[in-house]
Amino acid sequence: MMRAAVIDTYGSAAVLRVCDRPLPVIAANQILVEVHAAGVNPIDWKIRDGMMSARFGDAFPMILGMDVSGVVVATGTAVTRFSKGDEVWARSDIGAGNCYAEFVALNPGTVARKPPELSHVEAGAMPLAALTALIGLRDCARVKAGDRALIVGASGGVGVFAIQLAKSFGAHVTAVCSGRNAQLVCELGADRVIDYTRADVLPDSDRYDLIYDAVGSQDAEASRRCLAPGGVYITLVPVPGIQFFVPGQTERVAGSGYFVAWTPSSPDLDELAARVRDGRLRPVIDSEYSLDDIAAAHQRSESLRAVGKIVVRVR
Ligand SMILES: NC(=O)c1ccc[n+]([C@@H]2O[C@H](COP(=O)([O-])OP(=O)(O)OC[C@H]3O[C@@H](n4cnc5c(N)ncnc54)[C@H](OP(=O)(O)O)[C@@H]3O)[C@@H](O)[C@H]2O)c1
Repeated sequence: MMRAAVIDTYGSAAVLRVCDRPLPVIAANQILVEVHAAGVNPIDWKIRDGMMSARFGDAFPMILGMDVSGVVVATGTAVTRFSKGDEVWARSDIGAGNCYAEFVALNPGTVARKPPELSHVEAGAMPLAALTALIGLRDCARVKAGDRALIVGASGGVGVFAIQLAKSFGAHVTAVCSGRNAQLVCELGADRVIDYTRADVLPDSDRYDLIYDAVGSQDAEASRRCLAPGGVYITLVPVPGIQFFVPGQTERVAGSGYFVAWTPSSPDLDELAARVRDGRLRPVIDSEYSLDDIAAAHQRSESLRAVGKIVVRVR
């Protein structure tokens, strides 16, 4: 048996319950990982709340949590890329994630070697949010040197990675956050800060090659009007009329607005690890919780005030 945080129904953070669950049984093409740390993402409480019930159904008890850092403890007979004892990180694509638990079964295509420079807490903080930023900036926006990028929600889980990636691609970055987070976003590389509590984020005079709205707080049409010729608007919160950009897609229309969807992949995790290794990318930890305090971790995320990532220490 193992300890896990489960939900038996959709609802508030109060429906999260830590209990004993059977150990996951792995298929021949899966690996079993002992979870050291599990990242918390807004999608976790959106699922918990029932906002995504059409997609996740009623397969209760449900174990949430899509990000994990841990150690491989068993491999299926068809698995060749990982061995017992490997330190790994992953963005689970099974069910609702299943990572808020002492052990999780994973598909190897969503797993990669954990960067040794990171602790498990730091590594568990990264996959979903950093992959989201990578796919959006590299594949959809194709950010290049000299581009002007506006990142809204720059101090949040995705935003802190988007700033660093945009800078590494050579962009001039304007970060949008509240004044209390201005110093952090500058440390991460922002060239300019707009405090959205005091100033207009999208004045008519400003033009950007990329507007990356990680909060969904800016009007989509107003955002598109502030694009330079050839620019692109990306939102992480879908709005009516938005187009979907999926991994592997090569064509995109300049001046359009996109909701970037993606699937986790080992090569993209490896790219993130390379960036960690050479100092171009680092996580920012907002707070750590124990598995028993999972409800408080969700409440912190739901406050929409997290600065960087919230992580649950499991082991
Ligand atoms: N499409 C996808 O695949 C995908 C992937 C990942 C996330 N998402 C979604 O993207 C959203 C953001 O995720 P996240 O993990 O970055 O969230 P998060 O970590 O909870 O974001 C918190 C941050 O948002 C900032 N913020 C709140 N209101 C703001 C506003 N009006 N203007 C600017 N900043 C504001 C806060 O800064 P202040 O305290 O300074 O306001 C805080 O630092 C969520 O809705 C999530 O579900 C989608």
